[in-house]
Amino acid sequence: MPADRGSLPPVLISQEQIDRRVDELAAQISRDYADAGELVLVGVLKGAFIFLADLSRRLTVERRIEFIALSSYRDGAVSGAVRLLMDLRTPVQGRHVLIVEDIVDSAHTLEYLVDMLQARGPASLRCCALVRKQKAPEAQVDVDYLGFEIPDRWVVGYGLDYRERHRTLPYIGLLEG
Ligand code: PRP
Repeated sequence: MPADRGSLPPVLISQEQIDRRVDELAAQISRDYADAGELVLVGVLKGAFIFLADLSRRLTVERRIEFIALSSYRDGAVSGAVRLLMDLRTPVQGRHVLIVEDIVDSAHTLEYLVDMLQARGPASLRCCALVRKQKAPEAQVDVDYLGFEIPDRWVVGYGLDYRERHRTLPYIGLLEG
């Protein structure tokens, strides 16, 4: 019995909608990088692990998977401070790099990561995010490939958690209360 049963959050974006959109994003990325050689996908742990798994398997271009771990929230409370918890294992200098994020909220995490990776001299650096909150602040960073714009609510599922709960829900749900 899945641990999340009993208090399932209401659906914001269904499994079918995610599936279709991930297909579209994978097709678009595959077209854009068709002649670029190997694409380095940088998944941002933990939240992006499911999106990255689904997206990467649908790409038709040569790719490798890397992970980086950052944290911007503490105990469910929003915090502006971003911490690097685990760095990449391989250099990205001269490589085509695509950051894969689950959510852009304040965009602090993405800004931190773009600055950090840009300083390492990649051949190119773009960002793909499954969802971005509509409040989209004065972000200094572009999302090149975006799945969905969402309202400014706490969302869970498909990798996203609330205090480690609901990450493995197959859809994106709204945390009530
Ligand atoms: C979440 C999410 C993004 C980031 C987005 O990660 O996975 O990486 O916050 O927020 P921001 O745009 O306001 O910076 P979190 O720090 O909760 O860690 P997790 O992915 O391990 O749950």
